[in-house]
Amino acid sequence: MRAAAFTDLTGPSGVELVERPDPEPGRGEAVVDVDACAINRHDLWILEGDSAMVDASRLPFVSGLDVAGVVRSVGDGAGVDVEPGDRVVLCPNETCGTCRFCREGPENRCAEFSLYHGGLAEQALVSADRLLALPDSVDATTAAALPTAYMTAYHMLRRANLGPGDLLFVPGATGGVGVATVQLAALSGVRTVGTSSSATKLDQVESLGLDHAVESTDPDEIRPAVEDVGAPDAVVNHLGGPYTRLGLDVMRRGGRMLVCGRTAGGVSEFDVPDLFLGHKRVEGSTMGTQGDLQRLVDLVAAGDLDPAVEATYPLAETGAAFAAMKERESVGKLVVTTD
Ligand SMILES: NC(=O)c1ccc[n+]([C@@H]2O[C@H](COP(=O)([O-])OP(=O)(O)OC[C@H]3O[C@@H](n4cnc5c(N)ncnc54)[C@H](OP(=O)(O)O)[C@@H]3O)[C@@H](O)[C@H]2O)c1
Ligand SMILES: [Zn+2]
Repeated sequence: MRAAAFTDLTGPSGVELVERPDPEPGRGEAVVDVDACAINRHDLWILEGDSAMVDASRLPFVSGLDVAGVVRSVGDGAGVDVEPGDRVVLCPNETCGTCRFCREGPENRCAEFSLYHGGLAEQALVSADRLLALPDSVDATTAAALPTAYMTAYHMLRRANLGPGDLLFVPGATGGVGVATVQLAALSGVRTVGTSSSATKLDQVESLGLDHAVESTDPDEIRPAVEDVGAPDAVVNHLGGPYTRLGLDVMRRGGRMLVCGRTAGGVSEFDVPDLFLGHKRVEGSTMGTQGDLQRLVDLVAAGDLDPAVEATYPLAETGAAFAAMKERESVGKLVVTTD
């Protein structure tokens, strides 16, 4: 089978199509013929040598978390309730199954939490019990958009506990997590104010449900623009860096900030007295639960959610997909397909 492997960690030019032996499923495993695999900033960081999870010792490395396709073969064992021919999407969570959070939930807090990699290939060897059946109405490209970006956004929104009419601030509203957050918030009647460097991209996200667009990357410009809209009840912060302080500054008293990323910086400074005097909360959040992903599949099947996929790329053009992500050209998800 062919795979789009990272052969060096210098960026998008480091992706090469390589031949790999076809995988065989072991106990509890399944092999999926991959139809589609979405890419995430997580993969780009690996490709740029900026990931704590994967370093050069693992080259050539096949990344790709968000697999959708058709089961090709299954191994023996408990938890294997898929069959060859089943259309599926993978929940890329890897958990120990025995720690307190695996037993009592939520599973994404597992002490050994890790992520599946290997979807940027024609076949993916996965844990069978991480596969969810896809209704006929949910195509593979759409399904591949869901696991990382939408599941992470969905989980943060559950924790934010917002209701109709509440206001949510989404710095960086145009990418995978950003657009997912805007679309899912809109489904609950939550109003959104979001930012981007690009007016064109913001126009697109407004058509997907964004209520208030702020075209800027400068916190000093964004602050008054958000304050004009109102004091957000919550912030979904996948950018980190200066956006943490900005989000806390504009958020209402008692508001809650969910943090899942660090695109604009892994270190943030903020005003400590404002935090405690304002009774504000900052919470980290990573991925979501397999139950979250199931609900997202159900929302798509019911016609309530249409994930935003900007473009698809054939497997041989995986490097171009990462270049587009790096250049900040796209709105929503970029998906690699194998046809
Ligand atoms: N913890 C988790 O489980 C988890 C899961 C998913 C994602 N994440 C994290 O969440 C973040 C977003 O991931 P993603 O896959 O959605 O990425 P993405 O699609 O590449 O996100 C693009 C968004 O980020 C903005 N952006 C990019 N670089 C920026 C910069 N230097 N300063 C300000 N804004 C910038 C873009 O704004 P423009 O419109 O201006 O280009 C756009 O809105 C990443 O940090 C990722 O690692 C974490
Ligand atoms: Zn565990």
